[in-house]
Amino acid sequence: MADPQKHLLLVEDETPLRQAVAEQLADRGYRVEQADSGETAIQKLADFAFDIIITDLRLPGIDGSAVVEAAVELYPHIVAIVVTGFGTVKDAVEAIKRGAWDFVSKPFQIDELLHVLDSALEQRRLRSENAYLRAQLEERYRFEGIVGKSRPMKLLFQLLETVAPTSSTILITGETGTGKEVVSRAIHQSSPRRMHRFVALNCSAIPETLLEAEIFGHVRGAFTGAVGNRQGRLEQANKGTLFLDEVGTMSPALQMKLLRVLQEREFERVGDSHTIKVDVRVIAATNTDLARMVAAGQFREDLFYRLNVIPVQLPPLRERKEDIPLLVQHFFERFQRQRYAGPERRVSDRGVGERVMAPGDRNKPFIERKSFTASQEAMRRLMAYPWPGNVRQLENAIERAVAFSAGRSQIDVGDLPVEIQQAQESALSSVVALPEDGVDLDAFITGIERELIQRSLERTGGNKGQAAKLLNLKRTTLVEKLKRLEKSS
Ligand SMILES: Nc1ncnc2c1ncn2[C@@H]1O[C@H](COP(=O)(O)OP(=O)(O)OP(=O)(O)O)[C@@H](O)[C@H]1O
Ligand SMILES: [Mg+2]
Repeated sequence: MADPQKHLLLVEDETPLRQAVAEQLADRGYRVEQADSGETAIQKLADFAFDIIITDLRLPGIDGSAVVEAAVELYPHIVAIVVTGFGTVKDAVEAIKRGAWDFVSKPFQIDELLHVLDSALEQRRLRSENAYLRAQLEERYRFEGIVGKSRPMKLLFQLLETVAPTSSTILITGETGTGKEVVSRAIHQSSPRRMHRFVALNCSAIPETLLEAEIFGHVRGAFTGAVGNRQGRLEQANKGTLFLDEVGTMSPALQMKLLRVLQEREFERVGDSHTIKVDVRVIAATNTDLARMVAAGQFREDLFYRLNVIPVQLPPLRERKEDIPLLVQHFFERFQRQRYAGPERRVSDRGVGERVMAPGDRNKPFIERKSFTASQEAMRRLMAYPWPGNVRQLENAIERAVAFSAGRSQIDVGDLPVEIQQAQESALSSVVALPEDGVDLDAFITGIERELIQRSLERTGGNKGQAAKLLNLKRTTLVEKLKRLEKSS
């Protein structure tokens, strides 16, 4: 099931040295990936959950210490080893402060490196339940319960901090499960309106005929069944925030009425002529492309501009894979907390699931015993999976894994839903994106074929025999392909 081979990232700018070390590590059974700079290393770390990172300290650009720090931040369980030049122990100490496990000084024998590596892996295994790392990880990358550390999420937090205190209308777009509702609640929570109500209304969940009365309220006898006067959601949200979910499904008549609310901040209840003024911040959300609906004549352009004052776009999870480890940890903690706060507590009020306070934080109970982790192999599958249902789907997968864990504190591949177990780390998955308007598959594949053949010929100085080997082809097959490609170009 689990892959016994350890995945290792080797960072070194001196190419001959790097290749020599990589080869020797590969001979000892490590799966080695190479990076020639700190920048490349950080990029590779974002895409893949390595078990081990070995990095030179002195690198042009981002140095080894910073690479270690980034690696440990992303994967608290990674084993990081640094290589120092000229016996500069001070730098090594600094790197260890930033999360490196150990160091070797240049020049070194490969056996020395292997020894350091083995003992690090052994200690790492013994300390695999060190909760303190996880405690450190918490609370650093969040905005009102939204977790994320990828670039798009950091930009989102910045944007939210800026716009939350205002009363500007916000339009949140994003695929299902990307967090549109949590973001809208977070905006309300960090605005001066938090003293008042956050009222959510899903426009697609209420039959068209009732939606108008739901939003604006009605007076007695306004329609069959309208027995009394009733406040609508707009009035309930006065001084607070009204969240209009799936706003793209509104009928043209309602779109018109909503436009007036946004322009004048006033409306009438259904069946009434008395005008009511409200002070409401509107946050709308949609998982359809409203601009496209405008172009197709399905959504009022003027309303679109009124809603889209501040556009907030939530990226799909597959485009910010580096958030996955953090989200996994976040959900582990949540479900673990729920578990221990659940029925077990009633059996005995002390002992199992005892709630303790985090040091220095009197308001946040947390459970000290048993912290969950995911094996690196499980993490790799989680990061390779494309998550069509985004964060919600990840949340469900983790909840299920925790339920299946049966007393173990480490989640492994077998605890994940089948489709995620089968997720393959593919070198191409980050390269191949399906464009909005589709793709000409044959032409696309031919393009990739041409590119790979060209590169292998370049690498082998035009030697077709060797190039064919790199591509796992017979020489004659390569020659045929070359002829065919020449013809088609
Ligand atoms: N960045 C995040 N950090 C923590 N939890 C998140 C994050 N994004 C989403 N979630 C969680 O994922 C679940 C789905 O989020 P939410 O309901 O806000 O999605 P949505 O975009 O409104 O989806 P839909 O379009 O299907 O209504 C929620 O349980 C939410 O708590
Ligand atoms: Mg939603």
